[in-house]
Amino acid sequence: MNREIQAVGLDIGTSKVRCIIGEPSDGGAMNIIGVGQAESRGLRRGIVTTTDAVAESIKKAVEIAERMSGAEIQMATVNLSGEHLQGENKSGVVAVAGVGREITTEDVERAVQSASAMQLPAGWKIVDRLPQEFIIDGQDGIVEPIGMHGARLESRIHILTSPSAGGQNMVKAIHRAGLEIENMVLEPLAAANSTLSDDDKEYGCALVNIGAEITSLMIFGRGAVQHTTVFPFGGMHFTKDIAVGLRVSIPEAERIKHHYGCVAGFLMKGEERQEIIEITPVGRQETRQLSKEILCDIMQPRAVELLQHIAHEVFGSGNQISSGVVLTGGGSLNRGMVEIAEQVFDAPTRLGFLEEKHFGGLLDEVQSPEWAVAGGLALSSMRLQIREHNAGGKSPKRKVAEWFENFREKFR
Ligand SMILES: Nc1ncnc2c1ncn2[C@@H]1O[C@H](COP(=O)(O)OP(=O)(O)OP(=O)(O)O)[C@@H](O)[C@H]1O
Ligand SMILES: [Mg+2]
Repeated sequence: MNREIQAVGLDIGTSKVRCIIGEPSDGGAMNIIGVGQAESRGLRRGIVTTTDAVAESIKKAVEIAERMSGAEIQMATVNLSGEHLQGENKSGVVAVAGVGREITTEDVERAVQSASAMQLPAGWKIVDRLPQEFIIDGQDGIVEPIGMHGARLESRIHILTSPSAGGQNMVKAIHRAGLEIENMVLEPLAAANSTLSDDDKEYGCALVNIGAEITSLMIFGRGAVQHTTVFPFGGMHFTKDIAVGLRVSIPEAERIKHHYGCVAGFLMKGEERQEIIEITPVGRQETRQLSKEILCDIMQPRAVELLQHIAHEVFGSGNQISSGVVLTGGGSLNRGMVEIAEQVFDAPTRLGFLEEKHFGGLLDEVQSPEWAVAGGLALSSMRLQIREHNAGGKSPKRKVAEWFENFREKFR
């Protein structure tokens, strides 16, 4: 066990901030030693609107995790999200000069740069570049081109862009909470890294992370990210529908959703449909009664509508999802969500839990799809530190190699 390595994943969401602290254990896995969660304030659809409020929420979640682990943290790997995040596939070609010369890190870097040359709207920037494959002299499917021979090197890269202001405000909030940023990882990529198997990524899988106000879709295939889209909806839509439909406050609607909600009427047996729920309408003291069936009638059409949007995007992208659909995020916890998704996507669907092969220690504390992002971030944090630790001092040459290593790590 390596005590110098302290992995920290910090998932700053619109409704919750979650923190996982871990340390390396055997076989590349991580022992979870502390977890913390706090209500989130000051964000809208994953974007900071009030810096101080976000900083306070971060501090609370981190303090709880610190107390549990006995560790004090200075740095964290955080989620990169926001409703405007967009993914696009690009390719670039470079010549590898010299007969019989081996392809170097610099050649790969040039090929990647060439794929990244794109016009961006004012105020937008590239936030991540995920390699899909390399093609050497027409031979495709190459994952590790360095050291191979060839004259023409082509790179296929999934490029993610986003308005830069959102990221800057998030950085400010994290600094104000007294933390440095070790790395930023795309929210759905983090969720995928903690819940999907290598086979899922290889054979094709859609990861759908349903948060409070945003839902991100990332499609994997041939071991790499093929498609990314963020939708401006999430679990909060159900809460608002309930609030409007039943004339209750948002907190009361949230309570009703958690305790009695169901988005698939066929899961309820005869007598359950008629079970009575007591609700308190806005501005009233006395309660009102309503059957579970009526609540389901409000929620089910919304679930179908949201999932149809996502399915439309998946089918339109032209990717095969032989391994099916994996749902993560708090919004996936609505009863019946998996069953409805299975029908809408016409594909096997499951909830995404932290994979036991990657996590140990206090895993039971976080064994829920809501923690998938924080778990993936902590895992990335640990792997980054292990690589840095193994690399020792950083010569300029080493830095380039590390950049590429970091690159490859992204879709491992
Ligand atoms: N048991 C449950 N049943 C139904 N919905 C739930 C349940 N638990 C959580 N949710 C919903 O999940 C949503 C929060 O999910 P999550 O914590 O993943 O979001 P977040 O990361 O804070 O937000 P975002 O990713 O949108 O920025 C809320 O709308 C909440 O009501
Ligand atoms: Mg989230």
